[in-house]
Parts: sequence; C-alpha cells; structure tokens
Amino acid sequence: MTILLIGGSPSATSRTGCWLEDIRTRLARQGQHVETLHVRDLPAEALLHADFKHPDILAALQKVELATAIIIATPVYKAAYSGLLKTFIDLWPQFGLRDKVVLPLASGGSAAHTLVLDYALRPVLASLAPKQVLDSIYAVEEQIVWSDESGLTLAPAIEQRVQNGISDLIRALIPLQHPRLSKLQQALPA
Ligand SMILES: Cc1cc2nc3c(=O)[nH]c(=O)nc-3n(C[C@H](O)[C@H](O)[C@H](O)COP(=O)(O)O)c2cc1C
Repeated sequence: MTILLIGGSPSATSRTGCWLEDIRTRLARQGQHVETLHVRDLPAEALLHADFKHPDILAALQKVELATAIIIATPVYKAAYSGLLKTFIDLWPQFGLRDKVVLPLASGGSAAHTLVLDYALRPVLASLAPKQVLDSIYAVEEQIVWSDESGLTLAPAIEQRVQNGISDLIRALIPLQHPRLSKLQQALPA
C-alpha cells in the first residue's frame, strides 16, 4: 500500500516541496510506504504535448494508478493551482482517482486565496472519482519556513492541521488495508 506525494511546483527550491518532504518523513516514521513525484521532473515536452506514451509519463501514471492514497501539494498561481500540476492531471484516466484517498495542500503568498483548493482543485479531484478527498490544508508563506540550520518550521496552526490531516489519512486507509475487518465492523450493530 503506497502513499504517493505529488509536488506541483515548478520551483526547484519549492516551499510546498519542502512541506511534502516533511510529511514524507512523518509518514515513513509511522511505517508507511511513501513515494514522491515532482511534476517538474517530468519531461516538459511530453507534458505540453500530452504524450501519454512517453516512458517517463507512463511511469508517473503508473505511480498514480498504484497509489492507495495521494497527497497533492501545489503553490497558488494566479488564484488557482499551478498550471504545471494541471498538465499532469490532464493525462490521468477519467476515473484516475478511483478508490483512492486524497489530501490536498497548497501554499500561497496571501490569505486572500485560502479557499483556492476548495474552489479550484477539489472539483477537479472530485471529477476523477476518488474514494474520499480529505479536508484541504492551506498555508501562507510565513507559515512554512525553511532554514538550513533548523529545517522546516511550520506555524502552530499548520502543524496542528498537518497532524490532523495525517491522522485522517491513516484512518481512511484502515478499511482499505483491512477490507475484511471493515466489512465485519459494518456488520456489527451501531
Ligand atoms: C507566477 C506566480 C503566481 C502567483 N500567484 C499567486 C496568487 O495568485 N495568490 C497567492 O496567494 N500567491 C501567489 N503566488 C505566490 C506563491 O503561491 C507562493 O510563493 C507559494 O508559497 C510558492 O510555493 P512553491 O515555493 O512551492 O512554488 C504566486 C507566485 C508565482 C511565482
């Protein structure tokens, strides 16, 4: 069972990329199998020309297909998620999130776009038929600070939301990890 972390920032020194890396470490510490995919590492030509047959695109699509859960992180660009991320999502099959649990994250320069994940990305994710899209987490730049000395520091409010998001994700995965147990629970009287 794999949790795939998808980074949608074009920036090599991405804030959302550091955020994902921090989450990767937390999940790995809990014994989860985690993989990371930064869309900017995929061939630009293949993304722009929707070259489904490019081997790197095929490999990336397979990672999405095999993942049980996806944590998707994007910077806010022009009041929406990044165009880079969209070039990749556009290559997914129509129901490419079937049976998957998704946790969306975004960072932006301004609190004015706090709802960006809910009005822009969530409808796109919902159209791909996920099992569940968890509560989104939005942070402004000041709430995610990286330094070479102390690594990543999250503002307390974001730290709490990340902890809740990870707990919700793990909880949502239990019935997928133990389908027989979950059927038994459903059969029990409330
Ligand atoms: C081209 C561009 C457009 C942006 N547009 C917005 C925006 O509309 N609203 C906002 O809050 N921040 C905007 N920002 C700020 C980024 O969302 C913010 O710096 C984010 O933390 C960057 O994340 P990253 O380092 O992972 O790329 C924009 C930044 C760039 C480079």
